[in-house]
Amino acid sequence: MKVLPYIKQKFFRAIFSLDKKAAFYALRNIYYEGMVRRLNDASKFNWDQFKVSQTPEKFEDLTGLFFRSPLTRGILRQDIDEAALLFKSISAIPHAKGVEIGRFYGGSTVLLTTAIGSQGKLYSIDIAPKFNDQELIAVLKKLGFQDRVKLIIDDANKIDIDEELDFAFIDGDHSYEGARLDHNKWGRKLKPGALLIHHDMANSRPHSVQWNDLAELYTSILKTQSTCLQVVAEAGSMVVFRKTGDAWIDVPPGQNQMVNTEGVQSKVNSYLNRED
Ligand SMILES: C[S@@+](CC[C@H](N)C(=O)[O-])C[C@H]1O[C@@H](n2cnc3c(N)ncnc32)[C@H](O)[C@@H]1O
Repeated sequence: MKVLPYIKQKFFRAIFSLDKKAAFYALRNIYYEGMVRRLNDASKFNWDQFKVSQTPEKFEDLTGLFFRSPLTRGILRQDIDEAALLFKSISAIPHAKGVEIGRFYGGSTVLLTTAIGSQGKLYSIDIAPKFNDQELIAVLKKLGFQDRVKLIIDDANKIDIDEELDFAFIDGDHSYEGARLDHNKWGRKLKPGALLIHHDMANSRPHSVQWNDLAELYTSILKTQSTCLQVVAEAGSMVVFRKTGDAWIDVPPGQNQMVNTEGVQSKVNSYLNRED
């Protein structure tokens, strides 16, 4: 028996038995690299995870070949299959014009500006983007994408865009009330047939990062909007809805939900399912 691994194992077991949560966070901080490698155990896969019923045409259809989890996130804060679904959905729209709510570093802004192509237009709204957009602006210039995208710093609920829109990607305020306001405002504005896409809302596979408030909003949408929206696809926590016609019925406020009337980022009532 190897003595050092044995002692290490005993030590970690003892710590875990004292306080699981604290031990997990400590371990995550000191042994992150090893944990990442160990999570992805090559002996634990089977072909059920790859949806063979679907005929793959493009790389975006092949994400079932990957270990899909938040560990694939980088400067783009999406899992690989979520990003692939977003890219596939938007790139299928000719000369797409749309809005993004919440860009953070701008990883999703670069993905969307690539997907819309040279004839498309993206309006990206963020109340407090990372680095005040300075790094993103340099990247967009380098890519030659500056004319395809308008970066707006504002509350998504206080601003209007005077254009017909083919899509809205919502990834901003993750509270029920904040996301509900975004959903109603931008959903109402979309053309019939347009796509309304939410991140962090579904729980379609293991390791999906579904937010509790957005799970509740998803239930309300399905309950109240069957005449105006249909679910087209899900990947991880991403949900793609299609607006079926001109009609729009607002999703009502939730019970016991905090109302974000000031347009501030209301994180107080939002947390992740997976932390529990
Ligand atoms: C989860 S991050 C977006 C991640 C990004 N879409 C990606 O995939 O990499 C959420 C962003 O929403 C922005 N946000 C929060 N509330 C907002 C609001 N009311 N209006 C506009 N942006 C908001 C935050 O500033 C933050 O940058």
